[in-house]
Parts: sequence; C-alpha cells; structure tokens
Amino acid sequence: SILRWTWRLTYLSALGGIAYLGYGIYVMRHPNDQPDPDPSKKTLVILGTGWGAVSLLKKLDTENYNVIVVSPRNYFLFTPLLPSCTTGTIEHRSIMEPIRNFLRHKKTAVKFYEAEATKIDYQKRVVYINDDSEIKGDISSTEVPFDMLVVGVGAENATFGIPGVREHGLFLKEVGDAQRIRKRIMDCCETATFKDQDPEEIKRLLHMVVVGGGPTGVEFAGELQDFFNEDLKKWIPDITENFHVTLVEALPNVLPMFSKQLIEYTEKTFKEETITIRTKTMVKNVTDKYIEAESAGPDGKKVLERIPYGLLVWATGNALRPVVKDLMMQIPEQKDSRRGLAVNEYLVVKGTENIWAVGDCAVANYAPTAQVAAQEGAFLARLFNQMAKTEQIEDQLKQLSVEQERAPNKAARDQVFTEIKELQKRLRRVKQMGPFEYSHQGSLAYIGSEKAVADISWLTGNLATGGTLTYFFWRSAYLSMCFSTRNRILVVMDWVKAKVFGRDVSRE
Ligand code: FAD
Ligand code: NAI
Repeated sequence: SILRWTWRLTYLSALGGIAYLGYGIYVMRHPNDQPDPDPSKKTLVILGTGWGAVSLLKKLDTENYNVIVVSPRNYFLFTPLLPSCTTGTIEHRSIMEPIRNFLRHKKTAVKFYEAEATKIDYQKRVVYINDDSEIKGDISSTEVPFDMLVVGVGAENATFGIPGVREHGLFLKEVGDAQRIRKRIMDCCETATFKDQDPEEIKRLLHMVVVGGGPTGVEFAGELQDFFNEDLKKWIPDITENFHVTLVEALPNVLPMFSKQLIEYTEKTFKEETITIRTKTMVKNVTDKYIEAESAGPDGKKVLERIPYGLLVWATGNALRPVVKDLMMQIPEQKDSRRGLAVNEYLVVKGTENIWAVGDCAVANYAPTAQVAAQEGAFLARLFNQMAKTEQIEDQLKQLSVEQERAPNKAARDQVFTEIKELQKRLRRVKQMGPFEYSHQGSLAYIGSEKAVADISWLTGNLATGGTLTYFFWRSAYLSMCFSTRNRILVVMDWVKAKVFGRDVSRE
C-alpha cells in the first residue's frame, strides 16, 4: 500500500505541476487590460532592451511613471547561449523574448518605439530617435522628451581600428551575427569540397580562426569543435583531414578572468580537442583570405606571420557606441572617462542629475557582464520605485500640514499630527536606500566536449571547478536564468533535438 500511495502522490504532484504550468501559460497568453500611461507623471525614457534595461523594467512599478522604451531590437536576447546558435545546437528564436509580450504584462502600459537613439541632448532633455528598419513610414526620425533617462544601450564590437576586421571578420554579439557565422561555416565546408579544389585552398577554407581568447572566443571555439566532432565529419567525411580551429590571443593566456587552475584546464581540454591556441599573438591586419599576426620568434624578435582562414570570428571585447561617445562629449565631468559613461554609486551619470546608465555602456568598476547589468537594472527599479513613493509621501505630508492648520479644534489637530508623525516615519524608512553594491555570483564558461569551467562564489570563499559535472551545472544554471518558461522549454527541446537527430548542416 506504501507503493500505491507513493504512486498516487507522484501522480498528484505531476498533475499539480502540469496545472500550474498550464495556468502560467494561460496567464501569459491572456494579458489583462492595461491603463494608459499618465502623461502628468514624470516621463522616464529607457534606451535599450538588453540585460540592464529589461531587468529594470521587470521590477519597475510602471504606475509611477510615464514609461517609454526605445530600442532597435524589439526583443530581449539571452546572450549566454548565443554561441550555441552559431552551430545550431540552439535555434536563435529559443533565446529571444519579444519585448511586446513582456511589456503587455506590466501594470500600466509602456510605450515602445523600435528605433535607435542617435543623439541625447542632455541639456534640452531630448532623445533623437531614428527608425533604422527596412520598412519606414513617412516619419522615421523624431524626438522624445524626457524627465528621467536610463541609458542601457550596451556596447559595440571593439576592432581597435585594425584594418579589414569590419570588412572580412564576423562578430558574435547579436542574433544576426550568429546566423551569419552558421551560414559561413557551412559555406566554407561546401566550397572546400567543390570539384577540383586545390589542396592548399581546401586547407584555407577549412581553417576556422577565432581572434580573442575571452569567454566569447573560447565558448565559440568549443561549440565549433563540438559541431565538427559530432556532426560535420559524419555527414561530410571529406573535410575530416583539414578542418581545424585556431584561437588567437594577444595575452599570455586565455580566459584572464578565471583562476590559473581553470585557465590550465581549458588549455589542456582544447589541446585534447585539437583546437590550437596561439597566445602572445596579436592580429595586426586582416585581408579577405588571411590575417597578419605578430608574435615573438624563437630568438625573441617579433615576427609577422600570415595565417590563412576560411572563417574569421572576431571577439576582442567591447567598444563605445557613437550615441554614448556623443553624450560623453557634451558633459565636462565625463572628459576623463574612456571606457563608458562614468556613474556614481547610485548609477547617476556623473555631471547630470536625471540620467542614469546601466550595463556595458556604464563604467562602475565592474566587468561588462550580464550579471552586472541585471543587478544594476534591478537596483534602478528599486531606486525609482522608492523615489516615486517618497514623492507620494511628501505630497501627502504637504496636504496634511494644510489640513492641520485648518483643523477646527485641538482633537482634530492632534489626529492629523499623529498621521504626520506616522508618515514621517515611513518616509525615513523609504529613504533609507543604500548605494548600488554588486554581488558576484561567479563566472561560468562552456569550453566544448561537454565540459565547462566555473569560478563560483561559495559560502566559505571561491570554488574553482571544471569538467563534465560543471557542464551540467552550467546547463542548469543557464536554463534557470532564461527569460521565460517559454524560452526554457524551447532550449530544452533544442538540446534534445540536437542530441537525437544531430545538428542541421543545411546552409540557409
Ligand atoms: P545589451 O544586453 O547588449 O543590450 C543593449 C540594448 O541596447 C539592446 O537591446 C540594443 O538593441 C539596444 N541598443 C543599441 N544601440 C541602441 C541605441 N542607439 N538606442 C537605443 N537602444 C540601443 N555575460 C555574463 O554575465 N555571462 C555570460 O555567460 C555571458 N555570455 C555572453 C555571450 C556572448 C556571445 C556575448 C556577446 C556576451 C555575453 N555576456 C555574458 C555579456 C553580456 O551579454 C553583456 O554584458 C550584457 O548583454 C550587457 O547588458 P546591456 O544591457 O548593457 O547591453
Ligand atoms: P574580452 O574583452 O573578455 O576578451 C577579448 C580578448 O581579445 C582579450 O583577451 C584580448 O587580449 C584579446 N585581443 C584583443 N585584441 C586582440 C588582437 N588584435 N589580437 C589577438 N587578441 C586580441 O571580450 P569577450 O570575450 O568578447 O567578452 C566581453 C565581455 O562579455 C567580458 O566582460 C566577458 O566577461 C563577458 N562575457 C562573459 C561570458 C561568460 O561569463 N561566460 C561569455 C561571453 C562574454
């Protein structure tokens, strides 16, 4: 009978789980009516729909402001799984969440404009926006006035002005980049097997070069080698001899933000996977068929070498977006800042009163990561909710002091006095909000062949771990961090699909 009861309980909890999931999906599909934004409230303009901006929007009480979001991308992108989209392990739509669906569930409606902010005039309190999409109406440029502005536009790809990078290299930041890489990998493979192709040319076409040994470069190299080992060489055996991945890094080692032990583990794993790591090698020039890289020769002298490639993925970190550069030039307090908008401990852009910055475009002494951006966004939401509450209480206090003056007798005056005391206490509590403090949860990176590395902040200190168990941890951590239940289900389905049927090798 214990067995029967266990079975019944399992059955009931499974049923409960399904009902809960079903209810969640129903709520998601049937949003409530939303009141329109109140134009008499302060206009809060948020630039971007990335980690920083969306995390702010998630926790922001939209009833308190007239909220406007501007971004050229009408979706949120879960970047940690983007490297998996370059080989088709995950389909790109599985890690995209439409911003419209998300905003539709906020308490009060939020306006969204799919546009790029081209200029911020901080003195006039206006953002100039431009519709950069294919379809344009009669009006495709206009301006949006703001009382408060949050800049969360992220960063663009750094090229350090190296000639040829933009023309011949592929980046890995956006969905379009991952799609281009996926297509280029297959194009290189198919062209390498073209009739009568020269052996040297085959070698070049199948040489996949990744520049930048940060986490983006390492994760991509790992994913690409997996794709070759698990699928490509099975379906296109002709390429087996010549397909090769090389990672080029200017510094003495890859993954500088990880501990020494994990750097060594990554380098050892890459060696086993036959990925070549070229450290202390700085790329100086890029042409359509080869890169020129400088490294120290056996005699210690610098040598410039030509490395032919078929696919070149450029992952050398972040650079400022033009709109951010332009804003920095308008504010004298920003003149010494190089890497982004200098902010104070409340994320206010130094030299301004009503502009805040989050994520990769802000310089707050933290690494430009999703983890930092998300925490900054959540902090701003709390700050703005608190500011609105403060204003509300201050208004109530003003009203009460008028009432107190007009009170007909002592008893009424005393009652208002008690209310004022109570509100003042609440105001003090609400105003007690400390500055932004980042809490580092750790760093995680996938390094290929079902292995990952993790430097995790643990109760007693730091835990550095690498291997297959860490890989399962990496998968579950990223799955739990996905934006929505829909994303989670789609990602799991993609993983299962890739495992059962293999990745799709057709070139779109
Ligand atoms: P983003 O998320 O880049 O968002 C910027 C937003 O601004 C976008 O919506 C963009 O469309 C919009 N925008 C751009 N220009 C304008 C404009 N002119 N006007 C208005 N809007 C504009 N970090 C981690 O912590 N863990 C990871 O595992 C991890 N993996 C990564 C993998 C890859 C491949 C990449 C590229 C990055 C990864 N990162 C990771 C870093 C992380 O993605 C960034 O630090 C994070 O996205 C920064 O958030 P953000 O809000 O500042 O910018
Ligand atoms: P990065 O800035 O971390 O690394 C870029 C690397 O390129 C550097 O090591 C640099 O030395 C090298 N480089 C620069 N110029 C070069 C040249 N000319 N030739 C050869 N090498 C050159 O950049 P990445 O990987 O794009 O990451 C950007 C940010 O996103 C980082 O803050 C990173 O932590 C975060 N991120 C985090 C991930 C994770 O936690 N799993 C994954 C991807 C990104």
